[in-house]
Amino acid sequence: MLGRLVKIGFVLLCVAGIESSPASPDPWRVTGPEECAECHRVEYRIWEETPHSLTYESMPDSEDGVAIGEKMDLDDVVEAELCQTCHLTLQSEGEDEPADVIAGVSCDSCHGASVDWNKPHGKENKTSEEEIELWAAAEAAGLIRPGNVYAFARNCLGCHLVPQEALVNTGGHAAGSKFNLVTWSQGKIRHNTFYTVDNNEASAERKRMMAVMGVAAELEIGLKAIAGIEDKDGKYAQALLKRLQKARSTLGNMAAKTGVAQVQAIYAEVEDMNMTLPMDNAIVTAAVTAIATSAMALSEKGADLGELDALIESWGEYLGEPQQ
Ligand code: HEC
Ligand code: HEC
Ligand code: HEC
Ligand code: HEC
Repeated sequence: MLGRLVKIGFVLLCVAGIESSPASPDPWRVTGPEECAECHRVEYRIWEETPHSLTYESMPDSEDGVAIGEKMDLDDVVEAELCQTCHLTLQSEGEDEPADVIAGVSCDSCHGASVDWNKPHGKENKTSEEEIELWAAAEAAGLIRPGNVYAFARNCLGCHLVPQEALVNTGGHAAGSKFNLVTWSQGKIRHNTFYTVDNNEASAERKRMMAVMGVAAELEIGLKAIAGIEDKDGKYAQALLKRLQKARSTLGNMAAKTGVAQVQAIYAEVEDMNMTLPMDNAIVTAAVTAIATSAMALSEKGADLGELDALIESWGEYLGEPQQ
């Protein structure tokens, strides 16, 4: 019975996830990094030194930040919702109350808005039955668990693909990062310091799953963004098409190497897609849904992805030294 409930919850979550994956959490549902620090002191200390936290201070005063703000006709980038979405965390007392900027990209931005799961998830001495229920409830309340690799990946890419066309074409903002879920999560931002003390890197098995999920999420979020493109010759559209084509080719390579059915299923959605603009929105929308569904299922069930180690090795060093 319990297994069934968990499964139903998972399906509901999947559907909700396809509907929306906002980069920034609702301010009235944020508890903020200081609250997490009460129990996650080391994770907090590491996070404080990452670009995610530091952007709070550095971005608004940077030359580029000011220039982008001017081109976008914004008086103050800290006050601008557009910039807040990906650079800042906001908090308010209630849905209709004014929100304050409390941090850069923070715990709530990546692990999900925490007001409904913050207290319950840390309960000590759970029975194993309580544990299953508790985590399912926490996920339903918005917790993105590190174990749910796909949910994680799409959240990173919701910011790192910069799916705002005007921000790039008019504002001169970067058209997304050279993002790679494996090398970007395992370097300077790594904080695996709770269950183990020495900030271990993800296991080989986990890195393989991250490798596939990073590319699948790039396709999902990228295709969602392409569906709304207005200037097909603009810098953003062209950059996005290139990265979609590259992601498709990487995934094709992964599908061939691993022979895993769900990887092939994700690839099948894009294999013959005409990736030039304008694209057929009905085809794109159907692909987005199918990619998300297969990727969620793969992330949940796991698979033998051992054939990907050479590819992962070829990506080279992690981005920045992990902290201790
Ligand atoms: C009252 C103490 C407490 C607070 C406050 C707290 N946590 Fe936790 N957290 C824990 C404990 C204890 C665990 C381990 C629970 C377990 O494994 O059964 C945990 C586990 C986690 C995990 C791992 C979940 C997993 O899938 O294994 C994440 C992520 C996390 N916390 C994030 C946060 C964030 C973000 C905040 C702030 C919004 C926060 N926590 C606030 C105590 C706390
Ligand atoms: C969709 C998410 C998103 C939005 C919206 C966004 N940014 Fe960014 N921004 C990013 C990411 C991701 C990077 C890192 C890019 C990279 O990897 O080089 C970045 C980098 C920057 C940088 C260079 C790094 C630094 O801190 O100096 C500046 C400046 C910047 N953004 C300013 C802005 C301004 C101003 C706005 C609002 C007008 C804005 N951004 C809106 C995601 C976003
Ligand atoms: C809410 C938006 C947001 C989310 C979610 C997010 N990032 Fe970022 N990330 C940014 C922004 C903005 C910057 C650039 C900050 C700056 O330099 O001012 C950045 C910078 C980084 C950097 C440093 C890049 C460099 O060149 O030094 C790494 C690494 C990174 N992010 C990895 C990740 C990973 C991995 C995830 C998901 C687990 C993730 N990010 C989720 C917004 C986000
Ligand atoms: C940029 C996104 C991002 C931010 C910001 C972030 N986390 Fe995480 N967190 C992750 C990812 C990704 C993992 C899993 C990393 C891995 O598997 O190597 C993780 C793992 C964890 C874990 C499990 C650690 C373990 O030992 O396995 C805890 C606890 C946690 N985060 C708490 C926090 C807290 C507290 C904050 C704020 C102070 C925070 N995180 C900020 C992305 C983020």
